[in-house]
Amino acid sequence: IPVDPFDLVIFGGTGDLARRKILPGLYRRFLAGQMPEDARIIAAARSEMDEDAYRAFVAEAIAEFVEPGHRDKAQIQAFLARLSYVATDAKGSDGWDSLKALMRDGVVRAFYFSVAPSLFGALAEKLHEYGIADGDSRIVVEKPFGRDLASARALNATLAAHFNETQIYRIDHYLGKETVQNLMAVRFANSLFEPLWNAQHVDHVQITVAETVGVGGRGEYYDRAGAMRDMVQNHMMQLLCLIAMEPPYKFEPDAVRDEKLKVIRALTGVGHDEIVRGQYRGMPAREGRKAEPSYTEDVGNAHSRTESYIALKVGISNWRWQGVPFYLRTGKKLRNRISEIAITFKEPPHSIFDEDDAWRENVLAIRLQPDEGMTLTVMIKEPGPGGMRLTEMPLDMSFADWLSEDADIPDAYERLIMDVIRGNQTLFMRGDEVEAAWAWADPIIAAWEDRGERPHGYDPGSSGPEDALMLMHRDGRRWREIR
Ligand code: BG6
Repeated sequence: IPVDPFDLVIFGGTGDLARRKILPGLYRRFLAGQMPEDARIIAAARSEMDEDAYRAFVAEAIAEFVEPGHRDKAQIQAFLARLSYVATDAKGSDGWDSLKALMRDGVVRAFYFSVAPSLFGALAEKLHEYGIADGDSRIVVEKPFGRDLASARALNATLAAHFNETQIYRIDHYLGKETVQNLMAVRFANSLFEPLWNAQHVDHVQITVAETVGVGGRGEYYDRAGAMRDMVQNHMMQLLCLIAMEPPYKFEPDAVRDEKLKVIRALTGVGHDEIVRGQYRGMPAREGRKAEPSYTEDVGNAHSRTESYIALKVGISNWRWQGVPFYLRTGKKLRNRISEIAITFKEPPHSIFDEDDAWRENVLAIRLQPDEGMTLTVMIKEPGPGGMRLTEMPLDMSFADWLSEDADIPDAYERLIMDVIRGNQTLFMRGDEVEAAWAWADPIIAAWEDRGERPHGYDPGSSGPEDALMLMHRDGRRWREIR
């Protein structure tokens, strides 16, 4: 179904995010027939460039980031015809009159701030000064949304000076992932799970986001952030909220966000023995494999104490989750790329079998990527005449196998940009949520900074520092394998 006609302005239209995600995503939505005839995309950036040069830039991005099966010459040309480019100076006056002249009345106006947060204020101001934004316009902002509570508050205040909360779309691309949205469907569209979804039946929850990549070319940003700011405060926090929140009364923006906020506010602090930070080591060249740089080499800071891995245990102080630990871990250069949420249920209250050592826990594992799906482990009898021996059987559900091959699963960004045009904020973070997440993270970060702690080293391709194992062993539990 096509969305309403729109003018979408992408500030930072020549940047990396625009090239990798925003523009290829918009092209895919165009192919899917979701862009109405008169939808237009206007890129704005500092560089002087004419329209043809910009279109060539976008054609290259499509060639690089869109699957070959979707690269149709005629369609690409038709998509490029929707694009314009205006060289614009966020801090000066260049380009703003031309931008204004391009905007049409009677269509949705959306402005994507795909630029450094230090420019958000200047852009918001200019949009008003030149009368380009109106009361219905929407702005989209990217993470990082601040680096602590104070800076997030300042950023919120800057945006609030020109826009209402209902106009501000703070992107957390994890919320646009198909399986993340499926979490809500699994929980709230089935009667099977919800009665078990509480401290009475759940032993613990593990949330893992493991990556195989290092910090790549983003060293400068990453070394100032680290895994806590880069992944935990936002993406992992959102996953935790969707798992732990109470059922909203409706699938509607503020109903959902109110419930998420309550979870964040109920999070317990994290003691210093409940957190392990790691940093990947380098690897010398081995047979047939190139040497791999260490984290400190990647970021060009030999003394860096920033973590590229973090594991922590946190609780939620409310009726539903009292006493249930949530174990979170994320890291770069780990053995495999996998994001999953695993809910481990309590053992049956009494065993009628003589199997003291049998592993009798049911686990519901929800895989976000790759191979999106769910696995529920159940205990069954081991086949054969050998008496009553128990074994574990996975009930495996792969979403990809179930959905038809040509099911159109949009990338997170595609979905979210279309939601902006539709005016649906359900999958975007509200200002108070972001602030609450920083209010939780700040004292944890301050505590390790005060202790002057160095992260533990771990080998690339491993599952993280040894000490992270202890975090769970101590509680008589174990991490799931990163495989
Ligand atoms: C980004 C982080 O927000 O998310 C990156 O800044 C991280 O460091 C990325 O690699 C992970 O996203 P995805 O979609 O690849 O899981």
